[in-house]
Amino acid sequence: MTTAPAARARRYLMCRPEHFTVSYEINPWMDVSRPTDTARAVQQWERLRDVYLDLGHTVDLVEPVAGLPDMVYAANGATVVDGVVYSARFTHPERQPEADVYLRWFAENGFEVHSARERNEGEGDILTVGPLTLAGTGFRTDTAAHAEAAGLWGREVVTLELVDPRFYHLDTALTVLEGSEGGTTPGVVAYYPDAFSAESRARLSDLFPDAVHAVESDATVLGLNAVSDGLHVVLNPAATRLQGQLVERGYEPIGVDTTELLLGGGGAKCCTLEIRAAG
Ligand code: ARG
Repeated sequence: MTTAPAARARRYLMCRPEHFTVSYEINPWMDVSRPTDTARAVQQWERLRDVYLDLGHTVDLVEPVAGLPDMVYAANGATVVDGVVYSARFTHPERQPEADVYLRWFAENGFEVHSARERNEGEGDILTVGPLTLAGTGFRTDTAAHAEAAGLWGREVVTLELVDPRFYHLDTALTVLEGSEGGTTPGVVAYYPDAFSAESRARLSDLFPDAVHAVESDATVLGLNAVSDGLHVVLNPAATRLQGQLVERGYEPIGVDTTELLLGGGGAKCCTLEIRAAG
């Protein structure tokens, strides 16, 4: 059994989208022929940050770098568990320089940092739920990185295979609502089953028999690219059915419009890297 949803104060790292635009296409959401509005991206991002601050969370900022328009998707910058930082190693050359910018931020802020040998895109594909690490593969992250991360943190890693290019990162297809350190399941998640291979779907239903199953219309507005503090769930307000499903479980959905950032293929979660302290 899981307990009633309860909020826990979080620490997030974000990057203001001062240089946001779509100047290359590396996922099916990106279309270089569609105009972007950087000022609007900044406004939406500021609202997202303000929501976190109002909820009592801490938000650290990494300085944006000109020429790295995807830096706003901070979740991809690294993965931090127990204060130990596993760096990203990006697939596409356009994003590769981001890994060092994020790693430097963590080193300068006193974290134990590890430079990844294997290809991975941070919390885009490596999610923490209670005692488990759920790790996506199929598009941006290799299973060798799952093993590397598992060794680093001494945690059990569950590999999940993504099969639909619209859901190219695990965090576009699965949201961690809360983690449980005890109980009979590792925590509570919501996911879109069709984004996963049959084998991974079976693994997910074994691990999380009570999971929320999102419908396609919510998944395709990246409604699952959401951020939960254990009670409040920040997500795309267009994911209407999902909001109802969350309310039924006792969660409090908070809609934040990130339509401009969706042009790059990301929502609230993509913009938010969680810093999990030691202990
Ligand atoms: N344009 C970025 C890319 O394709 C979007 C990254 C979205 N981030 C995420 N955590 N899913 O790499």
